[in-house]
Amino acid sequence: MTSFEYHEALKNAAKSMVRVKNPRRLLKMIARFIEREVGLTHSSILIFDPPNRRYLFVDSKGDRRIPVGLVRLDADNPLIRWFSEASRSVALSRDFITANQVERLLSNETFLEQNRGIEERLCAIREQMRIFKAAVCVPGFFKGELLGLLLLGRKQDQTDFSLEELTFFQTLANDASMTIKMAEYHDDLVRRNRELEEQIEEVTRLRKKEQETYYQIILSLAREVHARDAYTSGHMEEVEKLGLMTAEAMNLNLEGKRRDILVAALHLHDVGKIGIPDSILKKEEKLTEEEWLIMRDHVFKGARILEPLDDFKEVARIIMLHHENFDGSGYPYGLKGEEIPIEARIINVVDTFHAIVSSRCYRRGRPFEQAVKELERCAGKQFDPAVVRAFIETISRRIQPRYDESTGLELKSRTA
Ligand SMILES: [Fe+2]
Repeated sequence: MTSFEYHEALKNAAKSMVRVKNPRRLLKMIARFIEREVGLTHSSILIFDPPNRRYLFVDSKGDRRIPVGLVRLDADNPLIRWFSEASRSVALSRDFITANQVERLLSNETFLEQNRGIEERLCAIREQMRIFKAAVCVPGFFKGELLGLLLLGRKQDQTDFSLEELTFFQTLANDASMTIKMAEYHDDLVRRNRELEEQIEEVTRLRKKEQETYYQIILSLAREVHARDAYTSGHMEEVEKLGLMTAEAMNLNLEGKRRDILVAALHLHDVGKIGIPDSILKKEEKLTEEEWLIMRDHVFKGARILEPLDDFKEVARIIMLHHENFDGSGYPYGLKGEEIPIEARIINVVDTFHAIVSSRCYRRGRPFEQAVKELERCAGKQFDPAVVRAFIETISRRIQPRYDESTGLELKSRTA
C-alpha cells in the first residue's frame, strides 16, 4: 500500500467506527481489513474483559489463526505487562513490538548490561510471540488504559513491515480502543437508565398501592358516616347510581378520569361528617347557630381528608362545594350557577332526593312524587334547573316510582 492508500484506508476505517455500535463487530472488521489490505499470514485481536481483568481473543483470521475462545491472557502475561507498565526507559517502544526488534535487543549485550532484568522480560515476550506466531504486536490504548492488542503474522510477500505500516496499525488500534470505550460508556448509560426506570416504576407502584389503601380507608369512613346518620347501607351505591344516570342524561363527558372523579365525589361528599359529634349529626330539632357552624365545617373536613391523595384534588374541591346553591345562597363561599362544579350541582340534587325518599329512625321516607315536587320547587334556587330536569327525566324513565328500604331503588326493565 502507498502512503496515500494508508491515509484513505484509515479515513474509511474511522468512518466505519463511528457507525458501528457493536465493538466486537468493529474489531472483526478491522482484523479482516488488515489481513486483506496488507496481505498477512494471519491476524488476531484481543480485547480487555473488565469483570475478569483479562484479555480475550475475539477474532482471528488467516491460515495460522488461533482458535478464538481458547486463549486468554491474564494481566500478568509478559505481553500485557509490557504495555500496561510504563517502560519508556528502554529502547522498546510502548507503541508496538516487532519480533525483529526483540531479537536485535537480545543479541545486544551492551543494552542487556545497561538494563538489568530486561533480558528475562524480553525472553518471555519472545516466547509469547512465538506461541501466537506474531511478527508484530500493537496495543490499543484509551486514556492510558490498555484495551486491546493486535497480534499480526508475517506479510505474505515476506517483506518487513515499514514504519508507515506500523504507525497505521497503531492508529487503527487506538481508534478502535476509543470506539470500544465509547460503546461501553453508552451501554453503561443505557443500563443505568433502565435501572433508574425500574426503580421509578417500583416507587410509582408502591405509591399507587398506598393511595388505593388510603382511598379504601376513606370509603370505609364514608360508610361509617351514613351508618351513623341512620341511612340504609345502600345509600352510597344508590346516590352513585342516580348521579351517573343524571350525568348521562345531561350528556356530560364521562370518559376515563371524569367518571372516576364523579363517582368518588358521589361516594365521599359527606365523609367530613366523621368529625361531627352525634349530638349534632343526629339532632332532630333545629340546630343552634354554633351547632350549624360545626355542621357546615364538614365540607372542609372532607376536603382535608382527601388531601394526601394526589389524584383527588378535583374531588376534594367538589366535596368542598357540594352545599353551594345555584342562586348563591349556599355555603361555604356563596358561589352561583356555573361557578359551582357540575359534579357538585348533581350531588346537591341526588343527595337531597335520596334523603327525602329514605326512611330514618325518626321518620319514614316520603313518596317519590313529593320528592320530585320538592326538587321542582327548589329548581333555580337551591338546585341547577338543568340538573333537576335531567334528573326527573331519567328517574321517571328508568326508576320504578316507589322506594322500598329492603330492595332500594329499582331500575325499570329495559323492555317496559
Ligand atoms: Fe353534605
